Amino acid sequence: MEVNCGELTEKQIGSTVILHGWCRYIRDHGGKLFIDLSDKHGATQLVFEGKLLGEASRLGKEYVIEVSGKVSKRSEETVDSKSPTGRVEVAVTHMKLLNHSKIPPFELIEEKEKFLANEELRLKYRYLDLRRPAALRNVVMKDKITKFVREYFWKNDFLELETPIMVKDTYETGARTFLVPSRVNTRKFYSLPQSPQFYKQICMIAGLERYFQIAKCFRDEDPREDRQTEFTQIDIEVAFKDEQYIESLIEGMFKKIFKEVVGKSLKTPFRHMSFEEAMQNYGSDKPDLRYENKIVDITEEAVKSNYNILKRVAENGGRVKAVAFSGAKYGAKDGQINENYMLKSIELAKSFGLRGLTWLYVKGGKISSEPQSIADSLAPSEKQLLKKLSPKDGDVIIIGSDTSEKILLEVIGKLRKVISDKIRIYDSEYTFLWVDEMPLFEMDEVTRKFKPLHNPVTSPTPETLKFLESEPEKVMSRQYDLVLNGVELGSGSIRIIDPELQRKVLKIIGMGEKTIDNSFGFLIEALSYGAPPEGGVALGLDRIVAMLCGENNIRDFILFPKNKRGELLLDGSPSEIDPKRLKEDYDIIFPSQ
Ligand code: AMO
Repeated sequence: MEVNCGELTEKQIGSTVILHGWCRYIRDHGGKLFIDLSDKHGATQLVFEGKLLGEASRLGKEYVIEVSGKVSKRSEETVDSKSPTGRVEVAVTHMKLLNHSKIPPFELIEEKEKFLANEELRLKYRYLDLRRPAALRNVVMKDKITKFVREYFWKNDFLELETPIMVKDTYETGARTFLVPSRVNTRKFYSLPQSPQFYKQICMIAGLERYFQIAKCFRDEDPREDRQTEFTQIDIEVAFKDEQYIESLIEGMFKKIFKEVVGKSLKTPFRHMSFEEAMQNYGSDKPDLRYENKIVDITEEAVKSNYNILKRVAENGGRVKAVAFSGAKYGAKDGQINENYMLKSIELAKSFGLRGLTWLYVKGGKISSEPQSIADSLAPSEKQLLKKLSPKDGDVIIIGSDTSEKILLEVIGKLRKVISDKIRIYDSEYTFLWVDEMPLFEMDEVTRKFKPLHNPVTSPTPETLKFLESEPEKVMSRQYDLVLNGVELGSGSIRIIDPELQRKVLKIIGMGEKTIDNSFGFLIEALSYGAPPEGGVALGLDRIVAMLCGENNIRDFILFPKNKRGELLLDGSPSEIDPKRLKEDYDIIFPSQ
């Protein structure tokens, strides 16, 4: 009977089985040799004795073998109760060597973070890294979630549709686009899509009505923990429906995934919050709501205080904001927040671009500081501060000031997350949130031009459309973002379907007629042939899987991820191309040649 390495239990004791896999862990006990034989299902202990010993002792780590033998009960002292196969072993009677292996450059058995080999090494030998059960579990989880997603949308009458990977180069506000030269059309380029956005809209115009795709997206931006240059979106587009429909569709999808994969029942509908409220109260458009810790405006109190730095900023039109960290336990024996940590946080705030920042703590119901002079200078407003922040003993309060309210909120918002994560005042809950009611445009601080806050195809709200040409900053959008525990999981909107309105929006963000025709002409043309009212959303699949596994680094959830420099160490890409080939095939010549 052929079995896998993860299935043998006491039930099969006495039967003869055939197994194949990799020799992971080899122990020579003199007259007996033990090998843990592994495959994607698990590991089974093999025992070699007698005339097989000689042959078995020549096996090395990761050699590939096939064995047959009898399943037997392990002696009590060798039982491994943590392993599903840990009560039995296979006494090998035949062995066939299927392949040799070089000595692996790192251990494949340890799973705990601190024992893990260097990530760059693991990425170069990703095929070995994937033999680690923990790495394998992550990619299997992605397969499982993808399966539920597909089933959910098929059941809801969606078509899984493919959009092209080599597409027209269009205007993008954030990341740069990867370009692909064409040999047949010399000096012309395709671009790799940052998302299937325009093509899923065109599917709606084509009358396909309900589209979904597990779509590969490409963005030439610096990779981070939650960002890869090549990643996967769950992309949705529906015709004749509004934001409420799309939001409840997505909530239904998460409900299913949570029930089937996490075994938890999710409460729906998810909470909603306006963009303005998120920014003002949490300093972020993706607030982590597992903890409250609201940012409070204390400009009035700063004016009344004797703390000159804050007072000056407040009197000169700047703002002063504070946040109290409940549960910080400052000064407590088991508290993680001490003076050193707070000094480091202030350095961090400076690196985020904020100059004026100070911190206080609460002791015996009174505001204290190190040195005490800071707290003393706030004494005239202490009562109001305590009322506004309602801190408890041990809570730390951060106060920041700046002439730019935007920078101030953003930096305090980042500190709110960093410090709250450090003190872990929340349970391992999943707190979903829709952020909506956001402006259509934002001002680019550098170019002083409007740019789309999210997406140039997002529809303005009917009530604010009248401001489009006169006061674009007042136009609100029909955009909605999905946030989970402070991470943006998805983003979507109801789209513009009027070709002239689309042209106007592109003009407001600084595009000339010619550029519009050249980049977006195909979409505007398509819109003019009876585009149905429609909207959609895209969710980051890698982020979803990582979060469901309680992790932040999406690299662990991508089969062959790029490193922090965007390189695929496995194959050494990106790589230089022979200049002769570039010239001959693509007519491309670099200036230095
Ligand atoms: P957006 O650009 O917000 O919207 O992307 C949607 C979601 O995709 C995920 N995501 C990423 N995941 C990993 N690495 C990246 N570099 C990366 N960039 C984005 C995030 C994000 O929320 N076309 C619109 C969607 C729409 O309106 O339908 C779009 O792409 O989870």
